[in-house]
Amino acid sequence: MKRIGVLTGGGDCPGLNPVIRAIVKRGLQIGGYEFVGIKNGWKGLLEKTTKSLNERAVSGIIHKGGTILGTSRTNPYNDPKDKKKAIANFKKLKLYGLIAIGGEDTLGVANKLNKDGLRIVGVPKTIDNDLYATDFTFGFDTAINIATECIDRLHTTAESHNRIIVCEVMGRHAGWIATYAGIAGGADVVLIPEEKIDMEEVCKVIRKRHKKGKTFSIVVVSEGAQFKKGDMILQEEKLDSFGHVRLGGIGNQLAEKIEEKTGYETRVTVLGHIQRGGTPTAMDRVLGTRFGVMAMDLVDKKNFGKMVSLTGNKIIAVPISKAVSKLKTVDKKLYDIAKVFFG
Ligand code: F6P
Repeated sequence: MKRIGVLTGGGDCPGLNPVIRAIVKRGLQIGGYEFVGIKNGWKGLLEKTTKSLNERAVSGIIHKGGTILGTSRTNPYNDPKDKKKAIANFKKLKLYGLIAIGGEDTLGVANKLNKDGLRIVGVPKTIDNDLYATDFTFGFDTAINIATECIDRLHTTAESHNRIIVCEVMGRHAGWIATYAGIAGGADVVLIPEEKIDMEEVCKVIRKRHKKGKTFSIVVVSEGAQFKKGDMILQEEKLDSFGHVRLGGIGNQLAEKIEEKTGYETRVTVLGHIQRGGTPTAMDRVLGTRFGVMAMDLVDKKNFGKMVSLTGNKIIAVPISKAVSKLKTVDKKLYDIAKVFFG
């Protein structure tokens, strides 16, 4: 029996459980494999905390959000002793290979461990959809559906009260969630990290709209968006173990400025972790399932150091090193489509 480890790292997202289920079910179908879940991402590899992943463990989980394996933002490459421990524990756990499900940070570690000689396959996840070398990550579809529903709800209350409502969404340094949910939700202004916020322009759009007789406006802003003259707004200065800042707060600052400059009553709603919680959409369940099956097939074909990727409508294998080489930011042509509906 070849023993395959499976772990989920970084922020959780809807669709992780469908991937875990698909890996195990495909492996059992091929035969000759057994599975062990590594708990809480790379932290579990350092602590050798595991969970049995047999057929029973993955039964009835496709609709469940979060991850049955737990997750963390632990980086074993922060300390040379941890790196050694991770490699030693891979052997102690008698792993033939490891499938790491995560975003740029988790897959960054997967890439390094692969270069250090371990048999690793990667699966791309993140609600932010900012991972390079795949058109989409699972989790994103669920997040934009949640955000779109929230924007719909904000419309009716904004309209009843003659208000501007600013809706802050997640996405880190890429504006995918804001752009997709903004277009789908019919937002009047969408602000993303890829283009600095011009306050004069935002207020001009809102005033023009209100001159046309509209009594409310919805502004969607990505947590990583920045004012033309100003820094990123941080919730706290502390960095996580991958060197990331905690974003958040731009919505409040933006709402204050809009109210001050236009005189219209303005409110803010920060969607936060609501976007990451709960049941995955059918699209994310299917994408996660396709990724999981293909990841297991890569293990079976001894095609290590690869990440499964959705390219066009095909699932293909790409080097993990390519996926973590840069961030995938919002395509300007797509953002220009959102702009057609500003005002
Ligand atoms: O990467 C996913 C994400 O939800 C980002 O959109 C957000 O900035 C971050 O994680 C929040 O992280 P945490 O769950 O650690 O607060």
